[in-house]
Amino acid sequence: MPIRHYPTLHAYVEANRRTRAEYDDEVLPLLEGALPPDLVGTLLRNGNGHFEQHGVPYEHLFDGDGMVARFRFDGRGVTYRNRYVRTQEYVAEEKAGRMLYRSFGTNLPGGLRANFGKTQFKNTANTSLVEHGGHLLALWEGGLPHRLDPDTLATHGRFDYDGALRNPFSWLDRRITPELPFSAHPKVHPTTGVLHNFGTVAGSQHRLALYEVSPAGEARLAHALPMPAATFAHDFVLTQSGHRIFFLTPVAFDVVRALAGITSPAASIKVDPRQATQIVVVGPTGEVQRLETEFGFPFHFVNGYQDADGTLVADALLMNTYPDSLSIKAYLAGNLPDDEPLAKFVRFRLNLGAGTVTRQQLSDYEGELPEVNPQCVGQPYRYTWAIGRPPSHPLPLLDHLIKLDVQTGAACHAYEPATLVSEPVVIPREGATAEDDGYLIYLRFDATTTTTDLIVADATDLHLLARLRLPHNIPLGFHGLWQPA
Ligand SMILES: [Fe+2]
Repeated sequence: MPIRHYPTLHAYVEANRRTRAEYDDEVLPLLEGALPPDLVGTLLRNGNGHFEQHGVPYEHLFDGDGMVARFRFDGRGVTYRNRYVRTQEYVAEEKAGRMLYRSFGTNLPGGLRANFGKTQFKNTANTSLVEHGGHLLALWEGGLPHRLDPDTLATHGRFDYDGALRNPFSWLDRRITPELPFSAHPKVHPTTGVLHNFGTVAGSQHRLALYEVSPAGEARLAHALPMPAATFAHDFVLTQSGHRIFFLTPVAFDVVRALAGITSPAASIKVDPRQATQIVVVGPTGEVQRLETEFGFPFHFVNGYQDADGTLVADALLMNTYPDSLSIKAYLAGNLPDDEPLAKFVRFRLNLGAGTVTRQQLSDYEGELPEVNPQCVGQPYRYTWAIGRPPSHPLPLLDHLIKLDVQTGAACHAYEPATLVSEPVVIPREGATAEDDGYLIYLRFDATTTTTDLIVADATDLHLLARLRLPHNIPLGFHGLWQPA
């Protein structure tokens, strides 16, 4: 399959390869439109702050130190502050002026000789943020969260919930994974306020660890379920009924190759699409049921809920393959194959009584980084907003902002040529009665001018309300968090 070069993608990576500046509450100039006076609060975004480490290009999109960007809205203007998360690895590499650590998708330069036996990987703290139980945390699914100062964004260090995230299993397990991983996609239960999260824990017995954190910030390891392999899982579903749904796909790390330094963890991943995906459902009182479905890989779930008849619904952005490390390395050079795998909106219905699973494609649009109205998490819902691509788009890029009605399949989009957009954060309007009455905030990189803008759009029809200019380019990042005033 031919590989083509995409100048927009190339310009984006080059513009963000060496982002280093940190700003203190810079006022952003308004270039277009007007800020809604009732949009008052703080947007925090997390993502890889750069694509190289002191001259060595990262080979994977998920590498790169976490950089938190904060946008404060007071109804009249927006101020911008950004800070790298001072992980111990970030501090050490800044001091040394060179790459010291292996990361998820990049080994140290120098082949096996440089990587053999190096089992400490960089905790990039670069994937998402959560504020719960009095703590603001930067999250990365391979290790502990980092606690941040909510006012200054200074880093207070790795955070283990008073030891709840220390590995309690065998001596060998503690050697392999001393600190339990805490995924970047926690969910807060809409009525109990309990934060649920998980981690996939490699060890002598691979485990799926489930955590529960009380509204007061007290965490416990609630369940540790055996997994047949060191499965890669990024997200899960929490329903208001209290069900937690995990997809354990046949996409798994070769822990021996990765720990030995033969490959990066990402490059050690093996995919066997002939094997079924195991769906693990943990019920409200901890009962566990395992179902099966044919292969498909979801990085993200859109949402999920229990239907009136008891059926569990899990809406995923499902790929029919897993993107291998070589294709991600090509992506970072601006190159994509014509058959680049992209995710489709797929609804899974799980009948726990019959032990059956059905699936239904919800749209011809492809997408990633889906968001819903935060008041609908775990409940029946109608809309999702995401980055995506309509079926008519000739480029294999998720460079549109899209809105999908998951009940009817109707979709709409907003698009500017030669731009790329970030995950849209959804902010319901105060007093709104319609699910889509609110605002979207996202970043947009323009390859023509090599600039990055903050966009406020109407969630109903995606039309642009305000556009402000950042003082520098930053990568579009992964996940954001809105804190109302
Ligand atoms: Fe994610």
